[in-house]
Amino acid sequence: MTDHWKPLFAKHAAVKDRAIMDLFGADAQRTQRFSARAGAMLLDYSKTNIDDDTKAALIGLAKSAGLAEKRAAMFGGEKINDTEGRAVLHVALRAPQGVTIETDGRDVVPEVRAIRARMADFARAVRSGTFRAQGGAITDVVNIGIGGSDLGPVMATLALAPYHDGPRVHYVSNVDGAHIHDVLRGLDPETTLVIVASKTFTTIETMTNADTAKAWMGRVVKDPGAQFVAVSTAAEKTKAYGIDPKLVFGFEDWVGGRYSLWGPIGLAVMLAVGPESFDAFLAGGRDMDERFLTEALEDNIAVMLALVGVWHTQICGYSTRAVLPYDQRLLRLPAYLQQLEMESNGKRVAMDGSDLTVQSGPVVWGEPGTNGQHAFYQLIHQGTRVVPCEFLVAKEGHEPDLAHQHLLLVSNCLAQSEALLRGRSLDEARAIMAKKGAVGDERERQARHRVFPGNRPSTTLAYPKLTPFVLGQIIALYEHRVFVEGVILGINSYDQWGVELGKELALALQPVLEGKAGTEGKDGSTAALVAFLK
Ligand code: F6P
Repeated sequence: MTDHWKPLFAKHAAVKDRAIMDLFGADAQRTQRFSARAGAMLLDYSKTNIDDDTKAALIGLAKSAGLAEKRAAMFGGEKINDTEGRAVLHVALRAPQGVTIETDGRDVVPEVRAIRARMADFARAVRSGTFRAQGGAITDVVNIGIGGSDLGPVMATLALAPYHDGPRVHYVSNVDGAHIHDVLRGLDPETTLVIVASKTFTTIETMTNADTAKAWMGRVVKDPGAQFVAVSTAAEKTKAYGIDPKLVFGFEDWVGGRYSLWGPIGLAVMLAVGPESFDAFLAGGRDMDERFLTEALEDNIAVMLALVGVWHTQICGYSTRAVLPYDQRLLRLPAYLQQLEMESNGKRVAMDGSDLTVQSGPVVWGEPGTNGQHAFYQLIHQGTRVVPCEFLVAKEGHEPDLAHQHLLLVSNCLAQSEALLRGRSLDEARAIMAKKGAVGDERERQARHRVFPGNRPSTTLAYPKLTPFVLGQIIALYEHRVFVEGVILGINSYDQWGVELGKELALALQPVLEGKAGTEGKDGSTAALVAFLK
């Protein structure tokens, strides 16, 4: 641990019991000074226990971790994913024309733009009906993928529903046959296009579901290959699988799965909303990249979001982070962020192989408001743990005739962060019970159940409207937050060795469950479960 952590732990020890509310009393400009802007987007982090000293110490920590140099290394195509020997260039997928991004001495931008032009041509052909399936124009697209080849496209398709004017898009990810069964059940194979989305083209769930879809289509369609598209880095494998190279959209290993939505993995989204809306999404991402690269750390929205996260997770010791979009179409954002954050920063070993001396990234979870209010907010308000909450809310919805509902949504969002901050004291609770006629010990007992400790931190990300551009800004903002947190922890945010052991053991268990191998060497519990489930 560098010396830069120490003042932050000392600061936390000194201020942990102070009322955040008092910080507002002491500084009329607090919200202005403890918020960051990105164009029309606002990040308010004033409802946290961060003050000027803390902010300065957090910025010092980021500087001491070499943030500026590491940011330049990422954008400069250096192989910062050094346990896999790869550059990390998802930013190249949204780079503007004329910008050069090199890795291994080669500018990758022309190639990115060429593939995107092919995607756009294909999307236009499918959307206009020029691309013909056996039964005519494509009515339905099934994207088969998992993890980064699923969560991003699913999240974005839902988020951009008001812009959806292409074929219906469905997603299959789970190896549980129930998933593909339920999706295919309502579809006509003669007018369905299947996208097999897999960076590696080896992922067992995806390849098994692709086989199932191929068999389903082959029962009716003479040439199922003509209705199968592949999105992958593994061109040879897509060929071996029998996919026409004209229907293969490739990308390179410098795009991590959970960062891949911006390129060919976003094809299903492009088919749904069209190339123009997809371009607007990329432009939003690019806008955030430029801000991340150029703005001073204290005004840099991604850096400040990350530093608030470090304060809560590593310094204050809060182990989870709730993502609470008051935006129904961001329904899958928490799941998307779970992979982005937890697969990137859920690591216990630093770049140099040493053990981390602080906690790894937080557990990320959440649900849209107001639904969550009726499910788990009880614990957030009155449980024994502190859960830092991240609210997201749009100024405007897409349904002008339902503006009164949007108003209700916004007032609920603001009310929750206010309640977390303010709480309700025992005296206030006593007064409420007295008004209801409670007296003596019973009034006291009842009042205690109605106390809200308050002083619970939250941030609010407010944006004008969930357009493709704004969605691009939001997703790139979170990507850069993960990067900054990873730099501060000194870890490699771009590998995912932690998913491998389970995959290996599952492969070994398959023959055991088939009865082709025994349970020798298995622990007693696993052996007994095999016997039960076989
Ligand atoms: O198992 C984890 C993982 O490797 C993710 O990182 C990735 O997004 C997902 O599997 C899917 O991988 P692929 O796109 O290669 O099928």
